[in-house]
Amino acid sequence: MTRHFVSLALLLALLAAPHCPASAQQSTWTIGMSQCNLGEPWRVQMNADLKKAAAAHPEIRMVFKDAQNDALRQNAHVEEFIKAGVNLIVISPKEAAPLTAPVAAAFRIGIPVIVLDRRVLGQEYTCFIGADNKRIGRAAGRWIANHLGGKGKIVELKGLMTSTPGQDRHSGFIDGIKGSAVEVVFEADMRWLEPIARKEMESALARYSVIDLVYAHNDPGAHGAYLAAKAAGREKSITFVGIDALPQEGQMYVKQGILSASFEYPTGGREAIDTALKILRGEKVPREITLESRVFTGPNIGRGGEWLKE
Ligand code: FRU
Repeated sequence: MTRHFVSLALLLALLAAPHCPASAQQSTWTIGMSQCNLGEPWRVQMNADLKKAAAAHPEIRMVFKDAQNDALRQNAHVEEFIKAGVNLIVISPKEAAPLTAPVAAAFRIGIPVIVLDRRVLGQEYTCFIGADNKRIGRAAGRWIANHLGGKGKIVELKGLMTSTPGQDRHSGFIDGIKGSAVEVVFEADMRWLEPIARKEMESALARYSVIDLVYAHNDPGAHGAYLAAKAAGREKSITFVGIDALPQEGQMYVKQGILSASFEYPTGGREAIDTALKILRGEKVPREITLESRVFTGPNIGRGGEWLKE
């Protein structure tokens, strides 16, 4: 009788327990991810890459926050993650200076921080992951000088110049066109945003009757410039070059002949999860992980672009 009672109780307890397949593990680590905005396709892709990579590891749980392009809000994200006691923070900061202190604060109290794509100032973080923006800018400069036969009038539409990719894509580019007669006749900070790029290009078109090429620090910027030129009936006499080369954006523009070249800027989502897992398991990781980049042009897009060599 007692034995029957025990087995009945056991059966009831088993039925009441949440269904848990033998393979599923409980998550042991929580990773807080602060994304600087989700208004741009490249950042939506970064989050998708992070989610996909994390999905293969049931031992981690991701908490995503969107700063909506507001550095103060992003600062608050880091404070919230610290309070919540997350095990690791991934941040893709809007700007370097305002996000340096919160990242350093988390790092100092022992929360590992992976900084993705845009940098903070100083060295108080665990690991930085991103492609080399100076190198990409330099490659773009060389490609452009070569494409224009060594001379031409250029519009440069810069990314947010308080963010490190904007600074590096500019200085690299200046380096790349050195020694040529390529001349930047108009430059503006379009803050990575297509509508601002389009407006700035309208001003450039109004001021200059000859523009040979637009170098934009990202593909939305190059596309905005293209739309302005098209509205003015001048898109056929201008070459457009961008950066990011997402398959559904820059690569597609190259296929359509809207952009003549797009330089790949990988999101680093998968690498961030791989690195996070190593850190959480107590393994050593490098301070800096540099991602490779390809250039996509009309002639090479069919064979998957070409890796940057220098
Ligand atoms: C998206 C974006 C990308 C660019 C990157 C630089 O916010 O503007 O287009 O490559 O950020 O950080």
